[in-house]
Amino acid sequence: MNRFSRRSWLKSAGLAAGSTSLWLHGWDKLAGVTLPWETETVLYSSNPGIIKLSSNENPYGPSEFVRKTMQSSFDLMCRYPAAEIQRLTEKLAEKEQVSPEHILITVGSTEGLKIAVLAYLKNGGEIVVPHPTFEAMPNYAEACGAYVHKVLLDKNMVIDLEAMRRRCNADTRMVFVCNPNNPTGTILNAAAVEQFCADLSGRTMVFADEVYIDYITEKNYPSMTSLVKQGYNVIVARSFSKVYGLAGLRIGYLVARPDIISRLKKMQIDRPNMMALVAAEAALTEKEFYQFSLAKNSASKKVITDTLDTLGRKYIAGHANFVYFDTGMPVTVFQDKMKSEGVMVGRVFDPYPQWCRLSTGRTEDMPALKNALLKVLS
Ligand SMILES: Cc1ncc(COP(=O)(O)O)c(C=O)c1O
Repeated sequence: MNRFSRRSWLKSAGLAAGSTSLWLHGWDKLAGVTLPWETETVLYSSNPGIIKLSSNENPYGPSEFVRKTMQSSFDLMCRYPAAEIQRLTEKLAEKEQVSPEHILITVGSTEGLKIAVLAYLKNGGEIVVPHPTFEAMPNYAEACGAYVHKVLLDKNMVIDLEAMRRRCNADTRMVFVCNPNNPTGTILNAAAVEQFCADLSGRTMVFADEVYIDYITEKNYPSMTSLVKQGYNVIVARSFSKVYGLAGLRIGYLVARPDIISRLKKMQIDRPNMMALVAAEAALTEKEFYQFSLAKNSASKKVITDTLDTLGRKYIAGHANFVYFDTGMPVTVFQDKMKSEGVMVGRVFDPYPQWCRLSTGRTEDMPALKNALLKVLS
């Protein structure tokens, strides 16, 4: 049976169909909104030896230093984390060169995506998103009763900014730009994305998901925090789940104008937990692990792309911790074949039924992955 089937997504969409607003129809719809990695838990737990390349995690984290810091923090766990939130907020403000009022720490960047929906789309309205992209925001928006415009990528699988611009109308409350995009790993032309976000923010809120920004190899590539600093209607999301290797702790943050941050903060259900805050603060100080993660990512990616070259497969190496490629068969079939070889791969993303997203994983696992790919795809 295919455990990665789209049934749960369709169920979410079905639950949302015809709804008008979260407040009219209650919270029950939100219970049906599954996160991509939630569907994998059973398979992973029952196959602990499996090479997991399905959720774009960084398997090297947490670093030794972060582990030690967490271990020596147990005495803090009986306390509420007010001081730790404040401290990390200040450190992030310093990192992003903004004031602490520009920062909101969230439970993974996923919470950031969702509270933005609650703040700007809970009473209906429309959101424009690329398709395919990371689905947490469009799915949550649908569940909250918003209308989601899904704008197809262009022929190179890059976000089509002009088509997105054309899709905006008087009811558009938010535009979502995922850069680098998941699942394709593509980035936008630097000047074009800046222009797009600046222009559109005059008409609607622009949400820039920059969770994979650390992996961009282009020199001096801009973050949309530059627009935040100039006072535009832009929200930027970042995460500790990727290069910092803390996905299980669920911690990320938003950068936006202070009045926008205040509005978003009101939508939070709770605050991040003490352990995550302590770990994130330690992770920020550690340049060595950051560089190590990037180097390991490049090394693993090279094994994957070299193997795909050998096999003559089309792929996008991308600017993230995954490779998106044409398997030449339905992804569901590919998943099962790779599972038999001990590898969990990404799920299918509409409308590319044969393209699969493969996370980079540990370099130690790459020989086994290479063998599996050669066997399944030859
Ligand atoms: C583009 C993008 N945004 C956001 C997230 C959510 O990350 P997290 O909630 O772990 O910070 C992911 C996770 O894979 C992602 O791919």
